[in-house]
Amino acid sequence: MESSTLRDAIYAVRKVRLGLERRRLDYGEETRERADRLAEILSASVAELREYEREYDDLEWFHESYADRVAEIHEAGVATDTTHWRDGVTLYVVCRALEVETAVETGVLFGSFDAHILAAMEENGGGALHSVDLPGGPPGPFEYGHLIPDRCRDRWRLHQGDARAVLPGLLEDVGPVDLFLHDSDHRLPHMRFEYETALPRIASGGVLASHDVRLSRLFDRFTGENGLQSCVVCDTGIARRPRQ
Ligand SMILES: C[S@@+](CC[C@H](N)C(=O)[O-])C[C@H]1O[C@@H](n2cnc3c(N)ncnc32)[C@H](O)[C@@H]1O
Repeated sequence: MESSTLRDAIYAVRKVRLGLERRRLDYGEETRERADRLAEILSASVAELREYEREYDDLEWFHESYADRVAEIHEAGVATDTTHWRDGVTLYVVCRALEVETAVETGVLFGSFDAHILAAMEENGGGALHSVDLPGGPPGPFEYGHLIPDRCRDRWRLHQGDARAVLPGLLEDVGPVDLFLHDSDHRLPHMRFEYETALPRIASGGVLASHDVRLSRLFDRFTGENGLQSCVVCDTGIARRPRQ
């Protein structure tokens, strides 16, 4: 068997295992513990982080637009991953607590995470998000980032191409990033490539975040090897570079 075919087979098995693990995972408890877990690694109190969760719940301008666009995607018969909003809240809270100004993300699709990061930047009063996805677009009659509300769209830059080709130059161009988020190709060599490429470009005290970290032990191993404090909430890993 060719090595890429073998990797695809391993990835397929991991996805099935993750699906089973997700059914067992208590997402209610994960969500309730979000602030406690994040407080361990961010310089913010549990009370402050809970306040950002409440702020998110009350963010009318965001929820109105987001709900409309989710409905459009549903009406077009295109499925959305319902776990994403919980992870979106985690990213919102992180971006508010650290006042993230420069962020880079891979894997846009409909832009659920982009929308949450950009909403936090809007509330912070500044910031820009650079997102990378393959040439083309999501399924259905939509563009990448359909879920991003108009109000924060001018903070967003889309870079189309394979992250392998785009990421090194992009990270060099934008300078130190406060947040790097991986959510593109979750096969291990690609995830490791993105983590390794991004880490030296993350600002002191900045965050390496990754979706679907329960697919493998890579996130834990990588953050351990590099001396980063980390936690996992729902399906998102958050690791922080120490302040220098
Ligand atoms: C799970 S979806 C991303 C979901 C998105 N983060 C959200 O918030 O809804 C994965 C995306 O990664 C993109 N992708 C896969 N391999 C990629 C690569 N090598 N470089 C850039 N993007 C890639 C796919 O086109 C797809 O849109």
